[in-house]
Amino acid sequence: MDTLTISTSQEAMFLEDKYGAHNYHPLPVVLAKGEGIFLWDIEGKRYYDFLSAYSAVNQGHCHPKIIQALTEQAQVLTLTSRAFYNNKLGICEQYICEYFGYDKVLMMNSGAEAVETAIKMARKWGYEQKGIPKHEAEIIVAEHNFHGRTTGIVSFSTDPDSTGGFGPYMPGYKVIPYNDLEALEEALQNPHVCGFLVEPIQGEAGVFVPDEGYLATAKALCEKHHVLLIADEIQTGIGRTGKLLASDYEEVKPDILILGKALSGGVLPVSAALANDEIMLCIKPGQHGSTFGGNPLACAVAMAALAVIQEESLTDNAFRLGHIFRARMEALHNQFPHLVTLVRGKGLLNAVVIKPTPDGKTAWDLCVALKDNGLLAKPTHGDIIRFAPPLVITEEQLIECCLIIEKTIAEF
Ligand SMILES: Cc1ncc(COP(=O)(O)O)c(C=O)c1O
Repeated sequence: MDTLTISTSQEAMFLEDKYGAHNYHPLPVVLAKGEGIFLWDIEGKRYYDFLSAYSAVNQGHCHPKIIQALTEQAQVLTLTSRAFYNNKLGICEQYICEYFGYDKVLMMNSGAEAVETAIKMARKWGYEQKGIPKHEAEIIVAEHNFHGRTTGIVSFSTDPDSTGGFGPYMPGYKVIPYNDLEALEEALQNPHVCGFLVEPIQGEAGVFVPDEGYLATAKALCEKHHVLLIADEIQTGIGRTGKLLASDYEEVKPDILILGKALSGGVLPVSAALANDEIMLCIKPGQHGSTFGGNPLACAVAMAALAVIQEESLTDNAFRLGHIFRARMEALHNQFPHLVTLVRGKGLLNAVVIKPTPDGKTAWDLCVALKDNGLLAKPTHGDIIRFAPPLVITEEQLIECCLIIEKTIAEF
C-alpha cells in the first residue's frame, strides 16, 4: 500500500486503526475537505457538519478571513516563544480583553491547558489574596463535568472512562451535583475553597442545561463566600449558545473565563483564561507558561476568528436558528416519543436523547444512518446525539437538515 496517498476510505481507516492509538471510536467516514457548513469525504460525498469539531468550527470550515490571517502571518512570523515580546501578542491581548470585558488574558493552546491555567490562577489567588493556608486550597466542581484530559483534570472527573486506570488522582477538589445550589452552598462553607469551576451548560455530558437562575445564584453564593466563579466556556462560548457567552443569559460575569475551541475558528489550538488584575497579577514571571501560548500565528488567527463572529452576527444567528431547530425536534419528539425521548439545548448547542429500538438499534446506528443521508453527528454517552452545526448555517440550510433528521428518524 502506498501510504503517502490515500484514495479510499477503507485505506484511511485501516491506517488509523493499525498505526494510531485507539483512543477514539470515530464514525466510519473519512473527511478530506471542508468549507463553511459542509464536509466532503475522500470519495467526494458531501455532508452537513452537525458537530463542528465539538464546537470549535463555529465560524465554518476554512473561513476565508481566518485562513487569510493564518497564511499572511505564517509567512512572516510564527513563533518567538515568550522569551521575547512579539508584535502581535499585545494587540491580540487587548482585542480579547476588550471583546470580553476583562483586564487581562493569559493565552494557551488546548482547552485543557486553559482549564489548568484557570485552576492555577484560582489557587494562587486563594493563597495570596484570600489567605488560604499552604496546600489547603479546594476547588468545587460539578458531577458529570468535562474539562479535558490531563491527569490533573481527570482527577475530578466523574466519568469512569476518563478516570479508570489513570490514578493516583490529585487532591484539592470537591465534587457536588450539577444544578444543585444547596449542595454548592454547603460546599462553600469550607473556608479553604478558592473557586467553583463549572460549565454554564454541560456540553460533553450531553448538553445539560441547568435551571434558570442557577449560574446567577451560584455567582452570588460565590461572592458571599469570597470564592471565584470559574466558567469553562470552551464549548459554550463564542456565540454557540445564542449569546456571546452562555453566562450572558444570566448576566453573570465569571471571575475567571476559560475559552478555547472557536477562539481560532478551528484553525489552530488557541485557548485562553481571562480575569481582572486582582486575580491575574497573582501569577508572576516564571510561574506559568507554554512555548506556543500566545504565538503570533495564534494571535492573528484568534483576532480574525473573533472578528468573524461579530461581522457576520453569528451569535444572533445561533439564537434565532436554535429556536427553529428545537421546535422541529420537539415536533419529532411528539411524533416518535418512543424513540426521541428528549430535546434540550440553547442556541445551536442542542441534543436529542434516543431510546434504543426494540431490535437493539442505538444512537450510534442512528448517526450512521444520518451519515448515509448526508449529515454528520456523533453520539455521546450511548443515547444522546449532539446537534451543533457551524453558526454560519442559514435558515434554508437548517430546514434542509431538519428534513434529513426527520426522514432518518422516520425510517429508523
Ligand atoms: C467544556 C470543555 N472544557 C474543556 C475541554 C477540553 O478542550 P481540549 O480538548 O481542547 O483540551 C472541552 C472539550 O471538549 C470542553 O468541552
